[in-house]
Amino acid sequence: MAKTLPALLDKMWIDYIAINPMAKKIYDLLTGTGDRIQNDHIALRTFNHPRVGIDVMAAPFTASGYKYCGDYHFPEKKLYAKHYEHADDSLPKIFISELKLEDFSPALQKTVKGLIDQIPPGMERQFDFVSIGRPWKVTKDTYQALLKESDYAAWVAAFGYRPNHFTVFINELKGFSDIKVLNEYLKENGFKLNSSGGEVKGSKDVYLEQSSTLANNITVQFEDGELTVPACYYEFAKRYPLQNGKLYQGFVANSADKIFESTSRGQ
Ligand code: NI
Repeated sequence: MAKTLPALLDKMWIDYIAINPMAKKIYDLLTGTGDRIQNDHIALRTFNHPRVGIDVMAAPFTASGYKYCGDYHFPEKKLYAKHYEHADDSLPKIFISELKLEDFSPALQKTVKGLIDQIPPGMERQFDFVSIGRPWKVTKDTYQALLKESDYAAWVAAFGYRPNHFTVFINELKGFSDIKVLNEYLKENGFKLNSSGGEVKGSKDVYLEQSSTLANNITVQFEDGELTVPACYYEFAKRYPLQNGKLYQGFVANSADKIFESTSRGQ
């Protein structure tokens, strides 16, 4: 069990590449040319239920020196998010979103409450709860019922608590400085990018450019059998300096809105 921030970040990465081998391939591709990878941010997903809301997910990070630095609204996807930064800027920012349950049908709310009620009392306060995996039993029918209302709800139901994505910080790559050149290189190497809203989300004008792979599909074991479902994706971010010369450290809601679709089945 991870009890320190470095151990937790390592555990999150190991778990992430275990279910997202495509990210490891990209990591190896970029580091194979001598580059070191710094993570811009790690993204976590949850529900706005009092036991597992953003502030609960943030606890191990705020206990380790992270500070709340901004919040974001995604009205169309019925999500709310906050981001956290550490004084050591080589550490990844933490981006935590939560689904606004009250904006969904009574059936979805009841289903999600039924999942959360299965979490053993107090487990959500465990330091490494954010990488504990799926702490509940769920059936294929439940997954598919959630999917009809929200990709996001279905993803959390299937995968539980673990990073949704890691993000390569392009500014720290030696081999690439232009996100478009990086995207072309990834495509030449056989990786599929999320093209919802264009491959590059954002621009220099909003101080942040982002792109992402499409989530790879993996076989997930449910209570009553297996389903092949979208898992995690890998993201790439390039940041631009503000007028004060410091790199913008926030997020851009319009861009993140499209990036959430990397785990949609539609693409
Ligand atoms: Ni992200």
